Formats: sequence, C-alpha cells, structure tokens
Amino acid sequence: MSLDIESIRRDFPILSRTVSGGKSLVYLDNAATTQKPQSVIDAMTRYYEQSNANVHRAVHTLAAEATEQYEAARDTLAEWFGTTRDNLIFTSGTTEAINLVAWGWARANLGAGDVVLITEMEHHADIVPWQLLAEEKQIEIRVVPVITESGTLDMDVFHASVDDVSLVCVVHTSNVLGTRNPIEEIITASKKSGAKVMIDCAQAAPHHRIDFKGMDADFVTISGHKMCGPTGIGCLLATSDCINQMQPFMSGGDMIEQVTMEKSTFQSGPAKFEAGTPKIAEAIGFAEAARWLSQHDMGELHAHCNALAKHTSESIRVLPGITVYGEPGSGDGSGVVSFLHDSIHAEDLARFMDAGGFAMRTGHHCAQPLLDAYGVTSTNRVSFYIYNTMGEANAFIAHLEHIIERFG
Ligand code: ALA
Repeated sequence: MSLDIESIRRDFPILSRTVSGGKSLVYLDNAATTQKPQSVIDAMTRYYEQSNANVHRAVHTLAAEATEQYEAARDTLAEWFGTTRDNLIFTSGTTEAINLVAWGWARANLGAGDVVLITEMEHHADIVPWQLLAEEKQIEIRVVPVITESGTLDMDVFHASVDDVSLVCVVHTSNVLGTRNPIEEIITASKKSGAKVMIDCAQAAPHHRIDFKGMDADFVTISGHKMCGPTGIGCLLATSDCINQMQPFMSGGDMIEQVTMEKSTFQSGPAKFEAGTPKIAEAIGFAEAARWLSQHDMGELHAHCNALAKHTSESIRVLPGITVYGEPGSGDGSGVVSFLHDSIHAEDLARFMDAGGFAMRTGHHCAQPLLDAYGVTSTNRVSFYIYNTMGEANAFIAHLEHIIERFG
C-alpha cells in the first residue's frame, strides 16, 4: 500500500483555500497543529446537531447518547494507543497531561532530595511544571544536554545521570529539531535505575502508532490536534499503579463519589482526574482522527514526512546565508526543518513566505533552552505531514531562494 496523497488531500477542505491574494495555501506548520479531515469536522458537527447533552449526569435520550459516544471515544483511543480505557485520562492536551503528572503524581510521591531528570530538548511544558514543583517540594532538576551539531541527546550524560533519579521526563521527538530520541534505551535505563519514566509524545503520536503497553513507560502524554484531531483535547496514558498513586489535580463535579460539607471522596481510575463537564465533542473528534489515521500506514506516513524534510533540508542548507539546525530527515526524525538566514530576520522571512502562500512557524517554539544551546532566540520552522507533497516542498525551496536573492 502506498499513500495516495492527492486523494488524502481531498479529505482536508482547508487545503483547497487560497491565501495572500489568491495564492494556493502550502501549509507547513504541522508541528504546531495539523489540519482536520472532513470526517473529524463531521463527527463533531453531528454530535452538536443530534446528540448534544452533558455526560454521566442524566438518563434522558440525548444524555445517554452523549455518554455513549464520549466513552466509545475513550475505547477507540485506548485501542489506538495500545492500552485500556482504565489507563487513558482525557486532558486538554500534552501541557495539561504533563501538569497532571507533576501535580497529580510527583507532588504526592516526591519530596526533598528526589531528582527529576529532564533534557535540554524539552518543550516548556516539560520544564516549567518541574521548576514550579521544585520550588514547592525542594526536588532537584537535572538536565541532559543536547549535542548541537547532530541535534541529539548526550546519552553518555544521560546514563551517567540516571542512577539516583526518581522520575525521568523526556520528549520522544523534538518539536524544534525533529530528532527522534532513543526512548527504548531511555525507558530501559530508567526502569533499571528504579525511576518512573514519562515520555512526551506530542510530536511522536502523529507519526508513530504509540503502543503504551509495549513501550513500558509509566506515563505518556499526547495532544489530539497534532494528529488531525480537534484542539482542546489530548490524553495522559498512565499505568494502573501510577493512577492509584495519583492525587486529584483539578477537582469539582464528576470526579467525586460523595461530597459532604466536611469532606469528599473520589471516583477511582481516569474519572478521578476529569473534573467538570468534559471535552465531549473534542473526544469524539479525537477518536474520529484516530479512525481516519487508521486508514493509512503510519510507517509510510512517517517515511513520507521524513523524505520531504530531508529533501528540503538538503536543498536549503546550500542556499547563501542559511543555517539548518540538527539533521532533519536523518535517522528516524519527524519531518521538521528549523533554519535561519543570517541577515533576513526570521519574522520578516516568514512574512515574505506567507505572501507566497507558505505557512511556517517562527519563534522560539516554546523551547527557549534548546534555542539558547544554539545561541539563537528564534528560528524559522517548516514541518510536514501526510498531505504535503514533494511539489509543495520544491515550491517552498524555490520561493525561499527567490526571497534570498531579493532581500538577502
Ligand atoms: N509546541 C508546538 C509547536 O512546536 C506548539 O509549534
């Protein structure tokens, strides 16, 4: 089976719109968020048009339908991510999922003297919660650096640092460099040292079928919107042991068993961490996104994105003034190319490219420590997904060359 990109593109209504005075849209900001296929948009609209009601609360027909659809979404996603419904907690995305690990698990289980090991490659969502928790609980944060030339983690430092650690939190795939980290090695070494391990799969889940049981991590965090699902929904996958060790982070309706004015008792399992009216339409859309992706071979999807990144990186690396960071498209990277021109400011370059119809991200990508390691404050970044074509990559390269000739 090989990907039929033209047919895939027809599933995404937004891809046929124009921008910047009639230019065809070339959407290359997929690491920030992916576009949504019609089936995801339809599933959410159908819920609002026909079944909209609150879940877990009433016995009327609409409430029963909404509850059934919401919980069916949990089943679909649990299967997609290689786990069971009892190990999947819906969150608003990866940021909330990591905060749930920090405030739900680590705050209850770590204390003065415990060490949390993170890396220089982390997104802010896997740095800031640990800094806040460290202030409160006097835990130590230890950081594994990045080898900037290759854009990979310094695994010698990782292995030298992991022995006395309580929790290891590592990004599976960098949102800035596209580097896919050796998470199997990281999980095995962490387990051997007795540490719990959390893998941030925000950028990995759109490219790989996550197999939570097979991975043997304690926590995995995922965002729906980066894998063709809606914004505002993601999940934390956690082992039953860890779920049993977690304390509520958000509290209120739906997560309780019994409330009196003196004290409250809580539900068990994922429900304990899903306070208030949940993200019902979003969960339904997220499950539909997994169904849409299941029509395609994830290995081919990944190879396609990587091939586009490799070609783009090799072609722009030789343009005057361009520096490409890391080694995009090499190894098992994720279709991301971060680069900078030495005299055209990143934001100006992004505007010139936008005027040609090309959408790319600019800035620190919520990973300031990683950019600091490269001595820059901002990069331009293109990130490919299943619906991008080699024709789009070539048009991007040609337009960039034209901009450099004109303004460089
Ligand atoms: N972390 C997302 C990105 O890389 C928002 O753009």
